Amino acid sequence: MSRIAFVNGRYLPHANAAVHVEDRGFQFADAVYEVCEIRAGMIVDPTLHFERLERSLRELRIAVPMSRAAFLVVMRRVARLNRVRDGSIYIQVSRGEARRDHVFPSPAVPPTVVMTAKSVDPRKGEALAETGVRVITVPDNRWERVDIKSVSLLPNCLAKQAAKEAGAKEAWFVDAEGFVTEGGSTNAWIVTADGVLVTRPAEHGILRGITRTIALKVAERLGLKVEERAFTVDEAKRAREAFITAATTLVMPVVAIDEATIGNGAPGSAALSLRHAFHDSTEMVPIAAPTTVA
Ligand code: PDD
Repeated sequence: MSRIAFVNGRYLPHANAAVHVEDRGFQFADAVYEVCEIRAGMIVDPTLHFERLERSLRELRIAVPMSRAAFLVVMRRVARLNRVRDGSIYIQVSRGEARRDHVFPSPAVPPTVVMTAKSVDPRKGEALAETGVRVITVPDNRWERVDIKSVSLLPNCLAKQAAKEAGAKEAWFVDAEGFVTEGGSTNAWIVTADGVLVTRPAEHGILRGITRTIALKVAERLGLKVEERAFTVDEAKRAREAFITAATTLVMPVVAIDEATIGNGAPGSAALSLRHAFHDSTEMVPIAAPTTVA
C-alpha cells in the first residue's frame, strides 16, 4: 500500500508529494510542526496540539492556515488513508513559497501545509519501556526560542546522532550553568531520593511538551509530588529515577545517563505508573469516519 501525504489541499502518494524548492520551510527552516500520537485508532490530545501549533505560528507571525475543525478532518483522513491504528501524525506549516529572500514575502503568500502519518508497532515502545533507555549529555547549542516548535532542528539531529553512536536513545541538552534543559526530541525528568518528580519549568529553555503537560496531570492524580525546577546533570546522575516524555516515546524510563547507572539500573516505579496511567487523562478522538445519522 502506498503512503499518502496531504500537501496544500491534495492527498498524494509519497512519490508525488512535494513542496516547491523555494518553499521557506526548505530554504530557511521557516516553518513549525506538531507530532500527534495515534493510539488504537484515536488521535491523542489534538486540542493541546492545535493550541501549541497556533502559538508557534503566532510567535513567528505565520498565518493560521485552517481552522482546528479542518485540521482534524485532514488528520483523520490522512490517518485512515495510511491505515494507521498506532503511530503518529506529522503536521508542518511553513510561511509559504516565495523567491528566496530572508525577509518575509510581501505581500504575504499562503502558508504551506503538509501532513503525513506513519504506523509504529506499539509493542516496540512497550518492550523498550521494560528495559529503559540510556541518554548522553551534550552542551545546549540551540537558539533561545526553543519554546517555538520550529523545524529548525539541526542541533537536535546532531545531538541525537551522537546519542545513537554512543549506544543511547536520547541526548540531554545541558545549559551553560550545568542544568539539563531537555532532550533532542523529549522533555527530561528525574525522581529524587524522597520520591519527588522534578522537571524544568516550561517558561524558558524548553519546549512545553504535551506529554509533559499530561504527565503533570497524571502525577497529581496519582498523588505523586512534583517540583517544576531546573536540575543539574550531577543531581540527575544521583537520582532515584529518570525518564523522558514525548508523543513518540510517551513516558520512557531512563536507566543510564552518560556512564552513570540510575537507581538500580531498572525502570523506576514512578515512571512506569505514569506510563500506565497516561491515557486515562488524554483527549482521544477516533480517526474513523463519523457514522452519518439517517
Ligand atoms: N518532539 N522537546 C523537544 C525538543 C521535542 O522535539 C519534543 C517533541 C518534546 C516533547 O513534546 P511532546 O510531548 O509534545 O511530544 C520536547 C517530537 C515528538 C518530534 O520532534 O518528533
